[in-house]
Amino acid sequence: MNKKEWFIDWFNSYYYHLLYKNRNDKEAKDFILNLVNFLNLSFESSALDLGCGKGRHSFELKKHFKSVTGLDLSKNSIDEAKKHNLEGLLFTQQDMRFFNLDYKFNVIFNLFTSFGYFKETNDNLKILLNCHQHLNKNGIVLIDFFNAHKVAKNLVKQEIKNIDSIEFNIKREIDDNKIIKTIAFNDKNKNFYFQEKVQLLTLENFKSLLNKTNFKLIKTFGSYQLTEFNINQSDRLILLAEKK
Ligand SMILES: C[S@@+](CC[C@H](N)C(=O)[O-])C[C@H]1O[C@@H](n2cnc3c(N)ncnc32)[C@H](O)[C@@H]1O
Repeated sequence: MNKKEWFIDWFNSYYYHLLYKNRNDKEAKDFILNLVNFLNLSFESSALDLGCGKGRHSFELKKHFKSVTGLDLSKNSIDEAKKHNLEGLLFTQQDMRFFNLDYKFNVIFNLFTSFGYFKETNDNLKILLNCHQHLNKNGIVLIDFFNAHKVAKNLVKQEIKNIDSIEFNIKREIDDNKIIKTIAFNDKNKNFYFQEKVQLLTLENFKSLLNKTNFKLIKTFGSYQLTEFNINQSDRLILLAEKK
């Protein structure tokens, strides 16, 4: 694995969690409730939260499913997630491109833009192929991504956020069909600089990825309230696909 991949250090850092601390558990709880109501799976089902972070969705999923696994590359996030300490709720530190578990799932969730981080477009296929292998018959995958069309059209190029006496200077640009977010700040007289690089994946891109990896797209939503996806208006692109 290339050690310079941006997502390895950034997601594992204290500052990432500080910058995004407004992401709340209530949002996760409501979204999971909407999803499980829609999916209507039995309690006996098993779920994987791929790119689980500190486990805010895994924890909610556990209320609805007998067994839930959360998987993330960030050691610090997984250590934090493990504090949930519930029977039937497991966390593992692995790379979503190469993960290997000796059990399968009925449903795999990939939530809050935990996709499209990689230099090689082939890595997107690797993730979906790996999901395919880890799903039971008729298993489903649910991907929650941003609406690339809307994000690109309404790009906020510059922003300053003051959080816990740190001034985060944020710049956004589009390059090579990726949204590049540069985050620069000073803490305790030390300068820090991080970048997020996320592919601007459209519905058409996802359709092609799903098709190539033997998934059938069943439904798309445009928000955490599960409203219809509208390319001009929706903030999210949420895709539900079934293993062929
Ligand atoms: C935007 S965060 C979302 C986290 C979580 N789903 C949430 O909503 O709180 C993306 C997550 O993907 C994880 N991630 C990034 N690259 C990964 C990889 N190659 N394998 C597994 N997890 C990865 C990051 O560590 C981070 O926790």
